[in-house]
Amino acid sequence: MKRVAVISGPNLNLLGTREVDVYGDLTLEDVEAQVMQRAAELGVEIAFFQSNHEGAIVDRIQAAGGDDDAIVLNPGAYTHYSYAIRDAVAAVGVPCVEVHLSNITAREEFRERSVIAPVCAGQVSGFGARSYILGLDAVVAMLKGDER
Ligand code: DQA
Repeated sequence: MKRVAVISGPNLNLLGTREVDVYGDLTLEDVEAQVMQRAAELGVEIAFFQSNHEGAIVDRIQAAGGDDDAIVLNPGAYTHYSYAIRDAVAAVGVPCVEVHLSNITAREEFRERSVIAPVCAGQVSGFGARSYILGLDAVVAMLKGDER
């Protein structure tokens, strides 16, 4: 069975109480439960990971190179400036889709740019928890070789 690493970055452990008007009131656990449900429908395994630390996220992405078939990645604020996470994604060569709960192009100017998106297959932004589901759908379609 294919395995997808679903990696969440800094402050995403605070979902549910953090800026609820922007990120909604679901906890990360709630989001992950929805991902698990979709994974069961798609017939893939999921390995969840969350960290507030850049190096830990780099380590997990490197590990995905050996252990996982694809990555769904919400890098949090690191999206906008972490060349280390970008380089890790580029280095492992595992298909990666970047996801964001909020629409990062509709907020502060510093959020408009992702330094990680260019090394990802694509980006899903603005659909709340559904961004994770759509990201999972996208990487699984890629793994299955669906051309559309
Ligand atoms: C986020 C968007 C980032 O700009 C922000 O720093 C986050 C969450 C999102 O999911 O919308 O922590 O990645």
